[in-house]
Amino acid sequence: MPRTIPRVDGDRLLRRLLELGRIGAIEGTTGCCRLALTDADRDGRDLVRARMDELGLDVEVDGIGNVVATMPHPSGRAPVMTGSHIDTVATGGRYDGNLGVLAGLEVIETVMTEGIELARPLAVAWFTDEEGARFAPDMLGSLVYVGGMPIEEALQITDRDGASVGAELDRIGYRGTAPIPGRAPHAFVELHIEQGPVLEDAGLRIGAVEGVQGISWTELTLTGRSCHAGTTPMRLRRDPGVVASRVNLFVRELTGRLGGTQVGTCGVIAPTPNLVNVVPSTVTMTVDLRNTDDAVLTDAEDELAEFVARAAADEGVEVAARSLARFAPVEFDRRVVDLVATVADDHGLDHRRMPSGAGHDAQMFARICPTAMIFTPSVDGISHNVDELTHPADLEAGANVLLDVMLRLAETEFA
Ligand code: GLV
Ligand code: MN
Ligand code: MN
Repeated sequence: MPRTIPRVDGDRLLRRLLELGRIGAIEGTTGCCRLALTDADRDGRDLVRARMDELGLDVEVDGIGNVVATMPHPSGRAPVMTGSHIDTVATGGRYDGNLGVLAGLEVIETVMTEGIELARPLAVAWFTDEEGARFAPDMLGSLVYVGGMPIEEALQITDRDGASVGAELDRIGYRGTAPIPGRAPHAFVELHIEQGPVLEDAGLRIGAVEGVQGISWTELTLTGRSCHAGTTPMRLRRDPGVVASRVNLFVRELTGRLGGTQVGTCGVIAPTPNLVNVVPSTVTMTVDLRNTDDAVLTDAEDELAEFVARAAADEGVEVAARSLARFAPVEFDRRVVDLVATVADDHGLDHRRMPSGAGHDAQMFARICPTAMIFTPSVDGISHNVDELTHPADLEAGANVLLDVMLRLAETEFA
């Protein structure tokens, strides 16, 4: 007899995504601003937590504000965990991260209402500050969960205004007591929108994610001398804005030269005092470099450092460089990747194996348990943008694949 595949309620999932998307909504758009540990993040957390409580899940909050909800189960065995994040970048959409959390909740609700019996429980979690848009590094909560950064160090990280993670957790009431590092799950699988154009271009419905590329974030503070834009001869200027511009162009040239999967972005270029008729005194800028090959990524970092030193010396500008994040490329567990591909086949969904260009909480879990990810297509490949969109049918298909993968993982014993 063919196995009956249980199905999530796609309309309920969509309703909940829209409901969460109203918190921190950016007026006149379908986008969201819920930077980590802000009031909007707290309101989003409260909403999702209320849904977890209504379902009767065992909800635990740890010392970095990660929230893990586990379904009641007599065995007390390590759960199959899914999860993602509900913080957004300042100009984010409704799906990045939110889908993984709300689809996880939907999976558990489906399993509980259908009375499906499992050898071990399922759990759904969200992790603090995945985006890293307010507190660097990104994936902060999951990094701490897996023991990759001491909690004391994480709590002291500050945003650009000097507010610390610890103080902000206290302020929004999300510094919990569940142990850190957290318990290793039996397995971890995260559903996420692709955030790039590959699946849509190829007319595919599912990505079986094989790994995540390496990430390197550097902050540069360039200090020159502020002076009058009209009266100061060009030969007497020490303009950090010129250095920042050269660095930005160098990053573009470097990515072209290295080719392959190398990407590079100067996402912050902030001059002080930022006025039309004043040569800036300082520029703070960031460089985000990523590659699936760690050796090439290291070469890119070295070349960048050399160029920055040269460009700054040419202009008489001083440089202070600080690493904000550095994560090596991650390979997911082949058995879980294969399972995602098999389930996609069983659901009649065309798929491909692919790397992730974005960072994800799953890459931290790969350190402590068998892990992989499921991608659903992003319309026009757009993400970290208010226009981010994934079609409802793809959201539902992705959640159904997540459900089936989790059910099968619950019955799998890894050697
Ligand atoms: C997280 O969203 C990242 O990849 O920057
Ligand atoms: Mn995300
Ligand atoms: Mn993101």
